[in-house]
Amino acid sequence: MPKVLVTGGAGFIGSHVADLFLARGFEVTVVDDLSTGKRPNVPDSARFRQIGVNSQEFAELVRESRFDVVTHLAGQIDVRKSVADPVTDAAINILGTLNLMEALKASDAQTRVIFTSTGGVLYGDFNTPPNVETFPKDPESPYAIAKLSIEYYLAYYGRVHSQDAIALRFGNVYGPRQDPHGEAGVVAIFCGRILNDRPLTVFGDGLQTRDYVYVGDVARAVWLAATKPLPEKGRLDARAFNIGTGKGTTVLEIATLLQQAARSNVPIEFAPKRPGEQQQSFVEVSKARETLGWVPEVSLSEGLAKTYGWFAREMTGASR
Ligand SMILES: NC(=O)c1ccc[n+]([C@@H]2O[C@H](COP(=O)([O-])OP(=O)(O)OC[C@H]3O[C@@H](n4cnc5c(N)ncnc54)[C@H](O)[C@@H]3O)[C@@H](O)[C@H]2O)c1
Repeated sequence: MPKVLVTGGAGFIGSHVADLFLARGFEVTVVDDLSTGKRPNVPDSARFRQIGVNSQEFAELVRESRFDVVTHLAGQIDVRKSVADPVTDAAINILGTLNLMEALKASDAQTRVIFTSTGGVLYGDFNTPPNVETFPKDPESPYAIAKLSIEYYLAYYGRVHSQDAIALRFGNVYGPRQDPHGEAGVVAIFCGRILNDRPLTVFGDGLQTRDYVYVGDVARAVWLAATKPLPEKGRLDARAFNIGTGKGTTVLEIATLLQQAARSNVPIEFAPKRPGEQQQSFVEVSKARETLGWVPEVSLSEGLAKTYGWFAREMTGASR
């Protein structure tokens, strides 16, 4: 039975990745320190270790387990926290990934690493979307700088140590089990406010765009990245793939679609624009289609309806 390690598998995206690999016949090990993740998110048939990715125990587990695939999702995910404390962000995100890569280097297993980078905040504000993988990158936050640094490290490990790694640059991922603090937190926040019959707060004019991609589609992209032949190892962008819908959706559209999904008429209220907030961000996804055979399958209205339904059941205690 092939073996996969899912770091961050008690979190939002990682738990969907763990579900999918189990469904496809993999033996799944989840590593998560439960700093934001939740134990009930880990599927019952997965092995679970509550350890940090910076620890010696983690390095030992990786060295000794001969995983076929490591999907690396564990990390500090809050952009604002990275601005407040870049040292902690880098310690978890950069050093945790180096701990993983060095442990793999010390083992003789042929392991493919799928790293979860960001398409939402990697390219910065100097490009006109849709952002293509090869566009210049000028990230505006320590979180995004760490993601970019890790991508450089992975390209180095590929070229110099022949390690097999790929970076998936996600748009704003939304769906069941979503945390309000992540990049697409607005969907979770709006669901909570509708369920509590509170107004939806939109910052600025609400016309800022993001590329909202459903978590089931993202988990499938991880699966394809783990199992498909990949391009030659090479420069930074050679093995990087945007994973989004290719479309920008405004916050106002998200608010309206969620009101429709919930059949709610809670008002939308406006608050002052937040300083430093990126205005336009969405990604070009033809590389993932052509190389991995991946296309998003869940439409925004369908995905938002599923997500709202999950939050509504969660409120009554009816979801996993
Ligand atoms: N949600 C998005 O829209 C989005 C967009 C782009 C990239 N990503 C990336 O995808 C990955 C998963 O994000 P998510 O939205 O599921 O967030 P999440 O917070 O739900 O998942 C991250 C998981 O990592 C765990 N973790 C944190 N630090 C750890 C450590 N030091 N050791 C072990 N476990 C640790 C947390 O407990 C959590 O379960 C992250 O790397 C994130 O940067 C997410």
